[in-house]
Amino acid sequence: MFIVNLRSRRIFSFAVIGAIFVLMLGCTPSHNQSTFDPLGPVAANQLFIFNVIFWVAAVIFVAVEAALIYMFVKFRRQPGDGDPIQVHGNPKMEIAWTIIPALILVIAAVPTIDGIFFAANPPPNPAGGPALEVDAIGRQWFFEFQYADPNDASKKIVIANELHMPVAEPVVFRLDSRDVIHSFWVPKLGGKVDMIPNNDNSLWLQADEVGEFYGQCAEFCGVSHANMRFKVIVESRTDFDAWLQEQAAPAAETVDPLALAGKDQFRSANCIFCHSTGRGSGIGPNLSHVASRLNLVGLLPNAEEGSFVVNDAMLQENLKRWLTDPDEIKPGNIMSREADAYNKPEFALDESDVDALVAYLMTLK
Ligand code: CUA
Repeated sequence: MFIVNLRSRRIFSFAVIGAIFVLMLGCTPSHNQSTFDPLGPVAANQLFIFNVIFWVAAVIFVAVEAALIYMFVKFRRQPGDGDPIQVHGNPKMEIAWTIIPALILVIAAVPTIDGIFFAANPPPNPAGGPALEVDAIGRQWFFEFQYADPNDASKKIVIANELHMPVAEPVVFRLDSRDVIHSFWVPKLGGKVDMIPNNDNSLWLQADEVGEFYGQCAEFCGVSHANMRFKVIVESRTDFDAWLQEQAAPAAETVDPLALAGKDQFRSANCIFCHSTGRGSGIGPNLSHVASRLNLVGLLPNAEEGSFVVNDAMLQENLKRWLTDPDEIKPGNIMSREADAYNKPEFALDESDVDALVAYLMTLK
């Protein structure tokens, strides 16, 4: 019996140590979604607030546990002990343990309140001129980004699942949702501000270096919440302006017969009901330049690791996978659930339909 107990205790201890080790791995800064590697002022400020609260809590935890263990040992029951002295209340101690935590909360509140105002108010743009403003809209389950057209500020350019930002400039995000509550978060840049329907939340972010960053919805919003991701491409001002001009122009018309067949298919299968290939914002992601995006549906990379050039073979493979069985990639998505092509036999896509659609979508550069 004793041996069995000892063995199960050992197994339990190993399991606990293993679980702690796995949890500690979450603290590595060399992870795409680590908040311990801030690469912008908002994320750095948020990490500072975390550190203040964490270390205050850590000191209190160690002090309380040490006192508790000391009391257990020092005042443990000895043979022959009678009842302990019975006491009722101790005003001095009660006042002390009310005032001390209140003071600790005040100390933690100072950087927190300062950080709330910091994240809400963008600093002046070091590049001069007003900061870039982007409308970020959450939908089940993708992110839509709207930029003012550089050639006509009264018009919008609509992008899905990919956010571009110029480096070292504050960018202001106006957050909104078209269905349930989502939350906007780019772990290395900052965030976690809720996107609430008909409620204007905003924040600014700035990236200190060029590169690719990971964005993620941070509010549970349905089955594919975990798949509601986007990529942030931070680039030089020149590259950003060039990208925006490309997005502002319509995709080149195709003459390829297979792509033209796909274009017809796109209409006849009613894809066009939900997906705009122009400036529009619909139930599904805008596809005006889908073939220029480095990711498909926010999940499937269209470029080699570290590259910012779309690899056509990867894009083709991803489009085919997605159109063949979207539910396998983003379970519960509206297209699988409601689109005619996946729900009505007369609209169902066979392999040649998928190939034609892929050929058409690949022309939307
Ligand atoms: Cu959107 Cu979680």
